[in-house]
Amino acid sequence: MRQLKPKIAIVGAGNVGSTFAFSLMISGLAREIVLIDKNESLAKGECMDLNHGLSFAQPTKIYAAGFESCKDADIVVITAGANQKPGQSRTDLVKANVAIFKELIPDITKYATNAILLVVTNPVDILTYVTLKISGFPSNRIIGSGTVLDTARLKYMLSEYYKVDASNIHAYIIGEHGDTELPVWSNATIGGMDIETFCSVCARKSNSKNELEEIFDNVKNAAYQIIQAKGATNYSIALSLVKISQAIVRNENSILPVSTLITDFYGISDVCISIPAIVNITGVEQYLKLNLSDQEQKLFVKSAKALKDIIKASNF
Ligand code: LAC
Repeated sequence: MRQLKPKIAIVGAGNVGSTFAFSLMISGLAREIVLIDKNESLAKGECMDLNHGLSFAQPTKIYAAGFESCKDADIVVITAGANQKPGQSRTDLVKANVAIFKELIPDITKYATNAILLVVTNPVDILTYVTLKISGFPSNRIIGSGTVLDTARLKYMLSEYYKVDASNIHAYIIGEHGDTELPVWSNATIGGMDIETFCSVCARKSNSKNELEEIFDNVKNAAYQIIQAKGATNYSIALSLVKISQAIVRNENSILPVSTLITDFYGISDVCISIPAIVNITGVEQYLKLNLSDQEQKLFVKSAKALKDIIKASNF
């Protein structure tokens, strides 16, 4: 009988993987959640703790297992790898995590032949590209969490600044999930109006360039601040992963700035980078060729080049 709810495998039972498992359980999205980690005791312990709360959530089968449990998974979410320490950038992790992925991806694709692979481990754009190349899967089935979280941070900070519900703000962060990311102010709207019009119509603070630049700076550096304060980020990335998973399993055709293979955009090709894309049951159906301002185009091309240089340098 056709399963109504998906099976989602999570590789890596650390901070992000276990928080995602918890968020997924609360969402009721999955019929089965399997946690895979080389530290079997950690994966088993996380599953025990989750299962003890199941009577407060919807029935879900939650267990720890090996890679063979990826066999009939609809989505495999990859969070395993070294994570940022205070003061470290995401790209500082590239050598260690490319080496881990060279082993990890074949272990997954040996079983998960039809799954969508959702990459989270940083540097996520590089590792999404590495996963695409190693797996040999079609590019629509290889998705990076990308700047979905950065975009959520931007919408939160704009909603605080303009005192408007974040769900009525449409503004994207695109490019690398990292230091070269950029905001697309030219397409940003609040309640369907460009920000300037909104400010004049609703007598809100003027959207001076400096203030918006400060907001973007806070978005770009948010992870560094959180890691400095508590050692890691986990809640908002976990909720971003639930949103992406929901768009896939419910065939929502959601437009999300995930990291995906770009083949032709402002002269950019053969790199995984974040741009708003239609996400549904097939994975990434297509990315949207946004109409960027000259300045945004320059910054996006610079971000893509930075990623391509890292891939080249990683001898991958
Ligand atoms: C962050 C991690 C997921 O931005 O890179 O919180």
